[in-house]
Amino acid sequence: MTIELPPLHEDMVFLSPLSEERATGFVGWLAGGLPAHATMLDVGCGWAELSLRVAAAAPRARVVGVDLDEQSLEVARRRARERHLGDRTQFLPGDGAITGPDEVDVLVAIGASQVWGQESEEMQPLPYAAALSGIRDRVRRGARVLYGDGVWSRSPTPEATAPLAGRDDEFVTLPELVDLAVEHGFVPVAVQEASQDEWDAFESGFTAHYATWLATHEPDHPDADEVRDRARRQRDAYFRGYRGILGLAYLQLLAV
Ligand SMILES: C[S@@+](CC[C@H](N)C(=O)[O-])C[C@H]1O[C@@H](n2cnc3c(N)ncnc32)[C@H](O)[C@@H]1O
Repeated sequence: MTIELPPLHEDMVFLSPLSEERATGFVGWLAGGLPAHATMLDVGCGWAELSLRVAAAAPRARVVGVDLDEQSLEVARRRARERHLGDRTQFLPGDGAITGPDEVDVLVAIGASQVWGQESEEMQPLPYAAALSGIRDRVRRGARVLYGDGVWSRSPTPEATAPLAGRDDEFVTLPELVDLAVEHGFVPVAVQEASQDEWDAFESGFTAHYATWLATHEPDHPDADEVRDRARRQRDAYFRGYRGILGLAYLQLLAV
């Protein structure tokens, strides 16, 4: 059943658990690696809020975002025009593993490791190694890379894994992820994990469109039961499942 829910970008700033304060730190660090004529690539950029901020902070650099979701790319392009960044930004549709420039000075991949996995590997362990290897192949030595993805903050429980991929080995721990980054040609400059507040804000934003829909449609609308059910399942998945167990690691890396 296709239900027209308000798009996520109306309720969320970023499509990851990321506070304004942490984002500001990332923007400054990424822009610092972008002198005149340098290029940044954002793989799986979504509506690219972080990349647009980097483009504004690095006024002589070029920023390229790639995503499969044309609706998000259109939001990114519109915001780029509104912020007068249209001439230095490009948002390309396509597979992030192969689309866009071959070699860049700065690369961002947040929540996008699956870009380097096989489609048939759905519900498999997250392909961290393939992602880190693919990223290393796309950046120059010395490049700054912001890599973010899921990790286990605590040992997974059956309630946590059930609404995810249903397996304990879907994610690694933070120290294991740092080791993988080192094995794939990076040195970590900073390692951080999203806080519980960032997660709660992220999950609230993620479910806000159900609330908006329910508040703007009659309770006996033919889709109302389905929307109520989806909202309840998402709440249960988080509050009774992976809250405090699934984490989000942010690795600031230099390519060596
Ligand atoms: C969790 S979202 C993260 C979006 C963004 N990086 C952020 O942090 O706000 C993952 C994004 O990866 C995109 N994606 C998934 N597979 C992709 C692929 N093969 N190539 C390009 N983008 C892909 C999705 O469309 C989605 O926008």
